[in-house]
Amino acid sequence: MRQKIVAGNWKLNGSKQLCEEVVAALSQSALLEGSSQCVLFAPFVYLPALLSAFEKSPCIQVGAQNVSQYAQGAYTGEVSAHMLEDVGVGHVLIGHSERRALFNESDAIIGDKLKLAAQYQLKVFLCVGETLEQRQSGLTEQVIQHQLQVVINEPALLKNMVIAYEPVWAIGTGMTATPEQAQSIHAFIRQLLHGVDSNLADTISLLYGGSVNATNAHALFEQPDIDGGLIGGASLKMNEFLEIIKCIKSF
Ligand code: PGA
Repeated sequence: MRQKIVAGNWKLNGSKQLCEEVVAALSQSALLEGSSQCVLFAPFVYLPALLSAFEKSPCIQVGAQNVSQYAQGAYTGEVSAHMLEDVGVGHVLIGHSERRALFNESDAIIGDKLKLAAQYQLKVFLCVGETLEQRQSGLTEQVIQHQLQVVINEPALLKNMVIAYEPVWAIGTGMTATPEQAQSIHAFIRQLLHGVDSNLADTISLLYGGSVNATNAHALFEQPDIDGGLIGGASLKMNEFLEIIKCIKSF
């Protein structure tokens, strides 16, 4: 059975107050059960507080939104995979489209980050997705395949990984992919992975991200190849985030 996951990506948002709100909201008993999981990708500075608040809640994990492509050294401002492991952060988001577009992260840089994360046993949430222009030119599958090439070439990297399909045109725009559009790309990704390792392809969790909210989450999560969501804006509003989490309980 594949793990169902709802992950929140806070991006450059948050405060001590939001941390307190999230702890209060997610501490409700029986919110998640069985193998379902919630992962909070918060800014680095809030990770220790969240880690300690959820220490006794195995269904709630805490992750970093980024990690350095370098192991250590003279790279001012960077946070390494070893540092994350050192303070007990077990999850990391890599390849988000905002990192790719705004911080010039190439597939080569993303590949270096994936290798370091694997070296420190971090569970990676690898984001892939096409722009509107690429979709309109019929290039969606080609783009996704290209972004996944690094893990196709090095299948060991897939062992501790979740893949999030996030069409760039749907992120923060309110323009969600339809459940059918999302399912079709998820099925494509799973089929690609079947060519690498069929057992792994059947067990890896594939999340959809891009304007997921409490209204559209159920229809997306009920698709056969969608195992949950990566939620941006709606993860900052506790009532809405809780509603989205409740949606994965029903599958
Ligand atoms: P959104 O962001 O839910 O605000 O569209 C998703 C993401 O960027 O991960």
